[in-house]
Amino acid sequence: MSELNSSIQPLRWQAGKLVMLDQRRLPLEQVWLEFESCGDVALAIRQMVVRGAPAIGIAAAYAVVLASRYAWAKKGTIWKQAMTRPLRDLAVSRPTAVNLQWAINHMQRRIDALPNNQQPEAVLLDAAKAIHDADITDNKTMGRLGAELIQPGSTVLTHCNAGALATGGFGTALGVIRQAHSEGKISRVYVDETRPWLQGARLTAWELMRDHIPCVLQADLAAAALLATGKVDWIIVGADRIAANGDVANKIGTYGLAVLAQYHQVKMMVVAPTATIDWQCESGSRIPIEQRERREVTHIGQHRHAPYEVEISNPAFDVTPAELITAIVTETGVVKSPSAVTMQSLRERRNTI
Ligand code: MRU
Repeated sequence: MSELNSSIQPLRWQAGKLVMLDQRRLPLEQVWLEFESCGDVALAIRQMVVRGAPAIGIAAAYAVVLASRYAWAKKGTIWKQAMTRPLRDLAVSRPTAVNLQWAINHMQRRIDALPNNQQPEAVLLDAAKAIHDADITDNKTMGRLGAELIQPGSTVLTHCNAGALATGGFGTALGVIRQAHSEGKISRVYVDETRPWLQGARLTAWELMRDHIPCVLQADLAAAALLATGKVDWIIVGADRIAANGDVANKIGTYGLAVLAQYHQVKMMVVAPTATIDWQCESGSRIPIEQRERREVTHIGQHRHAPYEVEISNPAFDVTPAELITAIVTETGVVKSPSAVTMQSLRERRNTI
């Protein structure tokens, strides 16, 4: 049997440049942008050219390669010091997705191991490509593990975009959906539009339709009435940061869905690589939540619909307490009924592999 793949790869390294699909323009236009500096990648992350926790981490790893090229060309044997500032700016480009800091830390360890008089680009590029390849492999492992939890004939609901576009190229939540659909287990996917940035309407619906997975797009507020019909078997989402006790930060609206899911006895699956777990963070209350610009709420596209100068709240993420989650699926294994204790056993399992 041929290997299951997504038809989309949101970023690639080509001819010495990072090339990324501009996710702000989807689905109406497919525009690829080229990046040759770490600062430009940091700006692209902030402006959502690339988004989704794992994809942000991979873009950051390639940005470190670009920073090292510049530092070596400008500063020679003191290239390591010259990287401090660009890497610090990169690290703060988005605050909630911990994969960003994870990838920078991973690359920093490679930097530390290199001698000052060695041209760093080739070694760091190998490391960035390894992060990228591992993400796709891990997505596929999570896809298989998550699909095992799904019964044939299931209907699922997803929120935001945790697909190929949000990762190295397969997807976390959509990876499970892709795999379960290929096994004939999923008959329909409900897609929340995901206000205000519309990741569901613009990205997830596009991704699923391209790969011929039956989907229905709905306004976020339709979820409660849908769950009340008893038609949905699983809510499946990704994560931006998972605390050590299993609390999950994900796209704003996820917490509301989890509360609804408990009331209507619908199962809630979170799919994320172990790079998304912040073991230093004891609970969800410690996770920094990004506040994004007011325009995302006052406008749709170029069209303003809110009064001028109205006060705005625009948190990009919320935190779902662990007790509302049925299972967290990682590449190392599945944590059922997540808690500090069950998460710790995942950590120990991971350290013995
Ligand atoms: O603001 P975004 O689009 O970066 O938010 C993305 C999400 O919340 C995703 O669900 C999460 O990053 C997981 S992506 C595999």
